[in-house]
Amino acid sequence: MDDSSFWELEIVNCNTLRVFVCISATFRQKIMLRLGFRNSCNISFSRALFTESFHRLLSTQTRGKLEDKVALITGAASGIGKATATKFINNGAKVIIADIHQQLGEETAKELGPNATFITCDVTQESDVSNAVDFAISKYKQLDIMYNNAGIACRSPLSIVDLDLALFDKVMDINVRGVVAGIKHAARVMIPRGTGSILCTASITGVMGGVAQHTYSISKFAVIGIVKSLASELCRHGIRVNCISPFAIPTPFVLGEMSQMYPHVDAQKHVEIVHNVGVLKGVNCESNDIANAALFLASDNAKYISGLNLVVDGGFTSFKNLDFLAPDKVQ
Ligand SMILES: NC(=O)c1ccc[n+]([C@@H]2O[C@H](COP(=O)([O-])OP(=O)(O)OC[C@H]3O[C@@H](n4cnc5c(N)ncnc54)[C@H](O)[C@@H]3O)[C@@H](O)[C@H]2O)c1
Ligand SMILES: *[C@@H]1O[C@H](CO)[C@@H](O)[C@H](O)[C@H]1NC(C)=O
Ligand SMILES: *[C@@H]1O[C@H](CO)[C@@H](O)[C@H](O)[C@H]1NC(C)=O
Repeated sequence: MDDSSFWELEIVNCNTLRVFVCISATFRQKIMLRLGFRNSCNISFSRALFTESFHRLLSTQTRGKLEDKVALITGAASGIGKATATKFINNGAKVIIADIHQQLGEETAKELGPNATFITCDVTQESDVSNAVDFAISKYKQLDIMYNNAGIACRSPLSIVDLDLALFDKVMDINVRGVVAGIKHAARVMIPRGTGSILCTASITGVMGGVAQHTYSISKFAVIGIVKSLASELCRHGIRVNCISPFAIPTPFVLGEMSQMYPHVDAQKHVEIVHNVGVLKGVNCESNDIANAALFLASDNAKYISGLNLVVDGGFTSFKNLDFLAPDKVQ
């Protein structure tokens, strides 16, 4: 900033375009020449008289997408929830991290600084969910964003005939009932304000069958259904309800699964195995990709989007390849 100054760029007779620019002195001449030749209109530079007002103008332009918003994120002590909490705070939000894992949650909140607060919350306990929402209201007077992200993986026999129904109930309790409880209590405080954005983490395993074992897959199909059912009612109160369906990401959740499946290799190899199942060449699915999707859906940029399942999978669930044999392989 030392070498730059604020200038008012005024282009005369070109649809009354007026631009305020912050440019370094060395670039000023270049910009003037470029615009002058291309548009053949009169350009005049004048040093802004009220530098402070331009500072203010620029700072509003670079404001975060969630300035002055309050978000509650379940399962935010690690993985996708933590990445999203970080992104939300960097965009000006206050975030309440609600997680069953107290020590990790407190560490995460400390790491994210004063705009993050931890509250212990087991999403299977309705009173915990209710308390977390009330905590947001007592601390910040409002709740703008509720992100129902907490979820667990499960390992159960692959065939339906061997299905462990006790485990099924446990997974449904967290992945489905926990989401419904979150929406119920968020709606309780959002309806009177007539605004709000509710998010949930579904999964590609809730978009098509065969991607995970039945219990987990069924729980995520349910999340996508919950979003549509609730969007139908909450639209009447100005509340948007959406979900995000991530592809496999090497969070602690998935790495735990990998270490059970491949106990003979190290964590780095587990990460590699997860990344290798992606279809989009040159990039891997990361928690930050989900945080970006959540930021978009939570922000006013998505003000007319509700009932959506935003699939972040590099195209994985959109196609299958028909691999016909090459002609020379067919006799
Ligand atoms: N990682 C992936 O590949 C992937 C893909 C698709 C969807 N998801 C979903 O993303 C969400 C987040 O998973 P992640 O990958 O970040 O995993 P993670 O294990 O890193 O984070 C999950 C968090 O949820 C918390 N949690 C677990 N049970 C809870 C409960 N009863 N109440 C409150 N908090 C609880 C955990 O303590 C943990 O901090 C889950 O819903 C998961 O199903 C993950
Ligand atoms: C530029 O300024 C000159 C002299 O003031 C004027 O004659 C001309 O019309 C202006 N051109 C444009 C594109 O406004
Ligand atoms: C926390 O929020 C305040 C007010 O919005 C902001 O000024 C500050 O930079 C934020 N702190 C961090 C560490 O993000």
